[in-house]
Order: sequence, then C-alpha cells, then structure tokens
Amino acid sequence: MNILTFDSTDKLNEAGAGIITGLIQTNRRAVLGLATGGTPVGIYKEVVASYERGLVSFREATTFNLDEYVGLPETHPESYHSYMQSHLFNYIDLPASSAHIPDGNAADLQAECLRYNMLLDKAGQIDLQLLGLGHNGHIGFNEPDHALTGGTHIVTLRDETRQANARFFDSIDQVPTHALTMGVGTILQAKMILLVVRGADKAEIVHRALTGPITTDCPASLLQTHPHLVVLLDSEAGRLF
Ligand code: GLP
Repeated sequence: MNILTFDSTDKLNEAGAGIITGLIQTNRRAVLGLATGGTPVGIYKEVVASYERGLVSFREATTFNLDEYVGLPETHPESYHSYMQSHLFNYIDLPASSAHIPDGNAADLQAECLRYNMLLDKAGQIDLQLLGLGHNGHIGFNEPDHALTGGTHIVTLRDETRQANARFFDSIDQVPTHALTMGVGTILQAKMILLVVRGADKAEIVHRALTGPITTDCPASLLQTHPHLVVLLDSEAGRLF
C-alpha cells in the first residue's frame, strides 16, 4: 500500500483528481467506482477543472457509485443521485446512460441489488475505486458486523453513521435508516483502490484500518489485502502514521 500525506487539502484534492484524470487520459473507456460524502467534494471540483481545461473527456467512461439511501427521492438534495449531479455529472461529458447509481426507491430492493450486480458484472472489473472512510470503519455503507456481504445489498445504517450524516440534513429523523451499497467483494475486485481520508476525527480509525487486525468489525481493514491500494491523507488524518 502506498500512503501519501498532504499538508494542505488543496494538494490532496489535486493529487486525487490527478489520479482519476490520469487514468481516463490513458484509458478513455475506464470504469470508475465513485464515492460520496464530504471527503471527495474537492477532488470532484478539481476533476471538473481539468475537464474544463480540456485535459480529459469522460465520453467513453463508465461510472458506478458505491451506494444510495433507501427511500430518499432522487431529487432530494441529499440523495447521492443529487450529490453526483451537483458535484460532478452536471459539469462533465459523461453520458447519463454510463453513470450508474443504485436505485434506493426501487419497488423491489432485492431485485435492484441483483440488477446492480449484473450491471457491474457486465462492465467487468472496476479500474479505479474511490473510497472515503466512515468513523466506524465503514466503506461505502458496509457497516462493521460479524460478517460482510460480497455483492450489492441492503443495509441497516448504524446509529453512529446516521449521526455522522445528520449534518447534511435538518435533523437526525430525516436521515434514512437503510441504504443500498456495493459489497466489499466488489470493492476489493477493483484493479486499484484510492482511499481518501481527511480530518483529525478520522486519525484513529484510518490508522486502525490500515495497521490493525483485518476484521469485519472494521470493514476498511480488508483493504490491507488489496494489492494496489493508494491512500491519500491530510496531515490531521495521518498524524498516527
Ligand atoms: C458516508 C458514505 C461513504 C463515505 C463515508 C464518509 O456515509 N456512505 O461512502 O465515504 O460515509 O463520509 P465523509 O466523507 O462525509 O466523512
């Protein structure tokens, strides 16, 4: 694993965006696994800047998002559909038909998970999976548990995850209780994983995830087994390394 620590958020964002655009420049048909949350916002902004400068085109790329809340209308400002539109998709030339996000409003959620898994299978391996990290060690919405699931599945969000994400909503009551998430099996099959972690509040969990025991109690610890893991940290998140 390659851990890079940056003394400014701008440098971290530039580095993250550089890895994504570098991949698309060398493989225009790349399959990207995308993440949401506060962490990648600045990276997406840099990706858009590169696109606007004419350095990269997403016309032939395909994207798969990690997760989506269950029961939040797609048009809700905090749905991950809205997030991706407002932070990335609205500003680049990725065809709408090439951007995949699980449908958390599907009438049959189990069928939706199967559909998403089939789409992933059809696309082949994800070339680059972007990941953030939850305070409890979750990746996507794969929460700590006695066992983890390989493919896309429905999850009950843990209280601490709903608390952490309540900052994006008016109150905790509005944070959905369930989500659909890509499983750790799919995540680990990606050719390369780019884990991005920022902030003092994540210093302990990222250290535990990358140096502690590999355990389903900390889903991100499974990333230690991945042969091509790049980790971008700001100096606060990286203070225990
Ligand atoms: C969210 C998302 C994850 C994200 C994580 C950290 O709940 N499901 O994909 O990586 O939690 O979010 P943030 O970057 O806002 O701290």
